Amino acid sequence: MLIKSSKQSDLKEHQVTDESVYLQRRELIKKMGFVGAGTLLSSAIPSVANAKGIDFFSSKAEKTFQRYALNFTADSSKNSEILTPEAKVTSHNNFYEFGTSKSDPVKNSQGFNVKPWQLKISGECDNPYTLDLDDLTKSFALEERIYRLRCVEAWSMVIPWVGFELAKLLQKAQPNSRAKYVAFETLHDPEQMPGQASRRIGGGIDYPYVEGLRIDEAMNPLALMSVGLYGKTLPAQNGAPIRLVVPWKYGFKSIKSIVAIKFTQSRPTSTWNVLAPSEYGFYANVNPEVDHPRWSQASERRITSGGLFARNRIDTLPFNGYGEEVADMYRNLDLRKNF
Ligand code: MTE
Repeated sequence: MLIKSSKQSDLKEHQVTDESVYLQRRELIKKMGFVGAGTLLSSAIPSVANAKGIDFFSSKAEKTFQRYALNFTADSSKNSEILTPEAKVTSHNNFYEFGTSKSDPVKNSQGFNVKPWQLKISGECDNPYTLDLDDLTKSFALEERIYRLRCVEAWSMVIPWVGFELAKLLQKAQPNSRAKYVAFETLHDPEQMPGQASRRIGGGIDYPYVEGLRIDEAMNPLALMSVGLYGKTLPAQNGAPIRLVVPWKYGFKSIKSIVAIKFTQSRPTSTWNVLAPSEYGFYANVNPEVDHPRWSQASERRITSGGLFARNRIDTLPFNGYGEEVADMYRNLDLRKNF
């Protein structure tokens, strides 16, 4: 989908701001009794790992997760917004399976083994099927999509993803008339993912990480299955080998390292919604008018160039600036109640 320069979605850079909001999500984890997950992490991982006979640090830290160049059609709108540098896209991450600090995923995921990988598409459909690792990049024509990613923690990036429309993958399965929702599930492999081996390291989440969309949302042309970024396959910390990208919703909907997609009749659960239903709704559409209980969603820090702490404060737009493409799906919905 194009990001046209004439639209309100064409954001401007503004002044640098504070970073206190970064810490607020971790406050929730503390409130729930998982105190200091990040600060305890470096000492906690080796002991958990040793108990299982795995050393997440010494054997894997020297490795670099292998990425490969992809063939894809370039996004023609690529000059309309300033891209977040690749080094930042790949080093400032939320992937609690590898730890709760922003720097944990890159540190702890370099030994992640995606071979063999299977993505199963099943549930209310006439043609359930499975994709192997190679199929993920070969079954559908790949295209680049430059999207804004807006985290509920009020930071954002502009990322050149490579992937294919989720709708293409779903249509191939021939969903039946009972298919009202689509449920997604991340790999569950505590031997590879230290956050799944320890509730403290993983932020108290009951894994596997799960997410869901209404079927019309899932079929929207903006919803992307990403297999790469910056022209290459995904780094482990960004959700290799395949993840969802739903650019009009808060980033937590964009589930990583997916192994299962299921058509369902009833609304699927979603990880953050289960963890704190009053804070993280099922819809999670970016909405500057509905604040998170503990912080404002009116603005965000755009992570661009400069040092890690050089961020620009910009106004947050409804649906993250993609209202023209998606607002119609919610015309009968009270977006305050259905946050
Ligand atoms: N998927 C899984 N499996 N585990 C996670 O912890 N974090 C989510 C989302 N997908 C998460 C996940 C959140 S909160 C955000 S903001 C985005 O991934 C971050 O994606 P990025 O690290 O590629 O920027």
